[in-house]
Amino acid sequence: MSLLVTNIGELVTNDPAAAGSGDLLGVRSDAAVVVEDGLVSWVGAAADAPAADDVVDAGGRAVIPGFVDSHSHLVFAGDRAQEFRARMAGESYAAGGIRTTVAATRAATDDELAAGVARHVDEMRRQGTTTVEIKSGYGLSVDDEARSLRVARGFTDETTFLGAHVVPPEYADDPAGYVALVTGPMLAAAAPYARWIDVFCERGAFDADQARTILAAGEAAGLRGRLHANQLGPGPGVALAAELGLTAVDHCTYLSDDDVHALRDAGTVATLLPGVEFSTRQPYPSGRRLVDAGVTVALASDCNPGSCYTSSLPFCIALAVREMGMTPAEAVWAATAGGAAALGRTDVGSLVVGSRADLILLDAPSHVHLAYRPGVPLVARTLVSA
Ligand code: NIG
Ligand code: FE
Repeated sequence: MSLLVTNIGELVTNDPAAAGSGDLLGVRSDAAVVVEDGLVSWVGAAADAPAADDVVDAGGRAVIPGFVDSHSHLVFAGDRAQEFRARMAGESYAAGGIRTTVAATRAATDDELAAGVARHVDEMRRQGTTTVEIKSGYGLSVDDEARSLRVARGFTDETTFLGAHVVPPEYADDPAGYVALVTGPMLAAAAPYARWIDVFCERGAFDADQARTILAAGEAAGLRGRLHANQLGPGPGVALAAELGLTAVDHCTYLSDDDVHALRDAGTVATLLPGVEFSTRQPYPSGRRLVDAGVTVALASDCNPGSCYTSSLPFCIALAVREMGMTPAEAVWAATAGGAAALGRTDVGSLVVGSRADLILLDAPSHVHLAYRPGVPLVARTLVSA
């Protein structure tokens, strides 16, 4: 079966060849795309398009690659609306709220957890996300972390073991014992269902030495490392990610000049999560500063019930443009090709021959409208590679 999407007014390809000529998004006008067996098989001018079994007429609207959301925490039960309400009334965000969700998650059945993930993945899909990374981290026991990842695996291959989210209450007096649990039996139970291992490297969670130990154990078990770092204040996490040559480090809210240079030199992707700053009232980091320094930037949702309960990458794009100094093109790139880079993927995030046929038809003439019309459901249709 082949499908021709034609009469595309603006096609965002993210073709790296075009980026070399200064067009970051590799935009083509009056374009068409052919999809065969779930892959892009042809890209060109609509006037030259070959015949196909089925045809979608884009009606002059824009088509962009599906969003790649490289950071979410969808395996959870309950919500923290009261905490959000208190925060909006002046309370500050504290990572301790994570324990509220841990208690609710432990009490939920597998089916309840899976139903929650399904609901949120569907919500994401309707907003254009076609690849999603999902973390554990609200189980924090051997069984609850393993089942969190097993549930997540039912929805994506991009699963991340985050047993080192916070120290759970039963280990409050023995953080070293908890690190030993995470690097021992918990990792062994989680690894079959995970591709990545992550640590919340932050004051009140895990320090740099603990993060180093946990990432090393994960790598020995075949998982690739990533970090939550520099979210609540300056800290050692971003420098550690660069030193270890990690694929990506996420949050990056508080960065020194040395951090920025280290990210650039290491080629580690900085994943910005502006929905977190929106929901916690923390200062937005400057995407402009990172892009200008030559750092690869990704935008992700961080969808979770505590620090950021949005599943919408269009919303994050709008925030990145309005609050982080990124151009609409940079923000759209960061939510597509940038997300792919943050997951070490080359088959998603762009629309070139051979890439997965994950694409979004926008109810708009150009990608700029994603930032220009915040809050408006502009995703008319999402096509996902079979
Ligand atoms: O990415 N930073 C740590 N973890 C989540 C927050 C989780 C929560 O508050 O429940 C985050 O922001
Ligand atoms: Fe997170």
